[in-house]
Amino acid sequence: MRTIQQIDVRDQKVLVRCDFNVPLDKNGNISDNFRILKTLPTINYLIEKNAKIILISHLGSPKGKDLKYSLRPVARELSRLLGREVLFLKDCIGSEVEKSVGKLEKRQVALLENLRFYNEEKANDPVFAQKLAKLADVFVQDGFAVCHRSHASTVGIPNLLPSAAGMLLEKEFKILSKALEDPYRPLVAIVGGAKISTKIKVIKKFLEKADHLLVGGKIANTILAVKGICVRDPLPQEAEEVLKDVEAINLTDSKLHLPVDGIMSLADLNEKYLRSGAVGTVRREEEIFDVGPETINNFKNVISSAEMVIWNGPLGYSEISPFEKSSLEIAKAIKKSGAFSIIGGGETVEFVTKIGMIEDFNHVSTGGGAMLDFLSGDALPGIEILKKEL
Ligand code: 3PG
Repeated sequence: MRTIQQIDVRDQKVLVRCDFNVPLDKNGNISDNFRILKTLPTINYLIEKNAKIILISHLGSPKGKDLKYSLRPVARELSRLLGREVLFLKDCIGSEVEKSVGKLEKRQVALLENLRFYNEEKANDPVFAQKLAKLADVFVQDGFAVCHRSHASTVGIPNLLPSAAGMLLEKEFKILSKALEDPYRPLVAIVGGAKISTKIKVIKKFLEKADHLLVGGKIANTILAVKGICVRDPLPQEAEEVLKDVEAINLTDSKLHLPVDGIMSLADLNEKYLRSGAVGTVRREEEIFDVGPETINNFKNVISSAEMVIWNGPLGYSEISPFEKSSLEIAKAIKKSGAFSIIGGGETVEFVTKIGMIEDFNHVSTGGGAMLDFLSGDALPGIEILKKEL
């Protein structure tokens, strides 16, 4: 994959695809600037090279132009973080944008409005890609988190301009490739979260590549239910799509560690009703909202021997305090193990931020779906295109 150091950006107009898809609170303020912070090395590199910097991104999935999804708050935050003005343009294509971009001075940074205000972005419309590409001389892809999409700004533009990966994308690519292809061993993978359909591929991959796979969260409940260990109905609807793959999981595989006990409550989350018990004892009116103490101990034992840990997805319903215990204990166990640690996925990053441990991991991926696809061994279109000859 070509990197930013391998192409000529000095004094050039550089179009940079970032992933500024950040969470906003109900007042429209950015509630977590993690993804913005991670783009600073590439932007600062381009400033040093006297480039004219044109940033593009999506935010959410608006249906047409909806200012609730404007990138204006990102421009403000970026300006604060860079300590310099960031010019915000109210559109991403068109003659006004071309005029403003044409007037950019060297080292100046501009952010264009949300690409997804145009349906053409997701449709990878060639005319839309052309309108964006004509704004610059060179394209840099730094939005790792969106590289699993085949959109105009991920695969359309790099077909039209000399292109390379920015520093964030390069770092994500190197570290996640290491975990997949040449990990420090023992490699312990931890997968949690809610939707089995989004995790089944990575589970299968880790059963092949990792030395141990620890599974928690609702996805573990689904596996146990499919295997007839927990109450089966109702199985989440999305689980039906991947039923065959889940049925094929071999419970006697010594690499696989599933919960043996859980913290149960009623489905309406009546906190007065809490009990812990073996997974096989869960009653029809109950649900498992966290893994139990014996499972936590088992998982901690495995983690203590790890040289590399990769974690995606909380092990319990971590937004609610009675059910965050396992994720908290696992975060501490990873830190204590001294293993090279990689974490990712929106909920996991949110959780470690909440408990003040984000600095305790070697690599915190900005990718959600992109990280999962990458670790599942899928080729990401936004990366593949950067491997093509210029
Ligand atoms: C993400 O948050 O995972 C990326 O920004 C991609 O967003 P999308 O799932 O809306 O394409």
